[in-house]
Amino acid sequence: MNLILLGPPGAGKGTQARRLEDTRGLVQLSTGDMLRAMVAEGGPLGQQAKEIMAAGKLMPDALMVEIIGERISKPDVANGFILDGFPRTVAQAEALDAMLAEKGLKLNHVIEMRVVDAVLVERVTGRYTCAKCGKGYHDSFEKPKVEGVCDSCGGTEFKRRADDNAETVTTRLGQYHQQTAPILPYYEARGVLKTVDGMADIDEVTRQIEAILA
Ligand code: AP5
Ligand code: MG
Repeated sequence: MNLILLGPPGAGKGTQARRLEDTRGLVQLSTGDMLRAMVAEGGPLGQQAKEIMAAGKLMPDALMVEIIGERISKPDVANGFILDGFPRTVAQAEALDAMLAEKGLKLNHVIEMRVVDAVLVERVTGRYTCAKCGKGYHDSFEKPKVEGVCDSCGGTEFKRRADDNAETVTTRLGQYHQQTAPILPYYEARGVLKTVDGMADIDEVTRQIEAILA
């Protein structure tokens, strides 16, 4: 099964994608995570990604299409994948359709996670992850069971994203409304668009997604 999780910054795409990896053996393909890995490696592309992400703007379509094209050609996605953060423009959606057709792959569901802008800033600025295994947490909504210790790996170091500040989030939200939201009618016209209430608590959002996949 191949899915897209679509929603604004902080909608819960990463949170739900990681759950679906665990429960359904799907592979999470997060373009944001891929770009952050490029930033960590350094080099000219990493530097470009660092600057664009820090500004809350979008990376060029051609580059993102190339990255995803390579990724979905690898054998580990055979059991299905969850696109998290891609496509982000209508041009990316069109390119994805062409790539899937070429590979004989199908898009089963595009799931829109609907959340009002007002809560997104709080979600994003409160977010942090385990530095060792990457498990996600939130200052108020998803704390580790033992304070300062990762539930998954026992790690005690945590990190926050450079673009998770109120100013950049506002730009990222603007980009979502201008560039990414126009994808919704694109998928609606193709009959694959489903919507979940991203305002509900994390477990309830998981239940709504599971109901769509069942
Ligand atoms: P990316 O990494 O994709 O960031 P984003 O889209 O802004 O989304 P986030 O990762 O911030 O949010 P999320 O929906 O994953 O939320 P999460 O589950 O963490 O992209 C970063 C940048 O890379 C972009 O700005 C752009 O520059 C570039 N980029 C990436 N892809 C690109 C592309 N295709 N084209 C061009 N440029 C691209 O949840 C957030 C927090 O809320 C967490 O702490 C979580 O615990 C909590 N939470 C989650 N769900 C709930 C809930 N239901 N109730 C309460 N709290 C919740
Ligand atoms: Mg994410």
